[in-house]
Amino acid sequence: MTGPQIAQKAPFKVDVEAGKSYFWCACGRSRKQPFCDGSHKGSEFSPIKYDATLAKAVFFCGCKHSHKAPLCDGTHSKL
Ligand code: FES
Ligand code: FES
Repeated sequence: MTGPQIAQKAPFKVDVEAGKSYFWCACGRSRKQPFCDGSHKGSEFSPIKYDATLAKAVFFCGCKHSHKAPLCDGTHSKL
């Protein structure tokens, strides 16, 4: 078992749309960061769903080590 791959040591800022659902990549292997593209298949990871209630800027974790996934909690600065 291995940990998630670090996509980048910084969050991805995304302007989300109200009422839309997003699937955050937990494994770090997606080529469509910060979202899942199915590359996790065969691993122990699966995406985490984020339901946007408001249209706003969201900082999705890019390092995949956040304790508040799918959102950045600053953990990337300690990696
Ligand atoms: Fe990473 Fe799906 S590609 S969780
Ligand atoms: Fe992962 Fe900030 S990018 S905690």
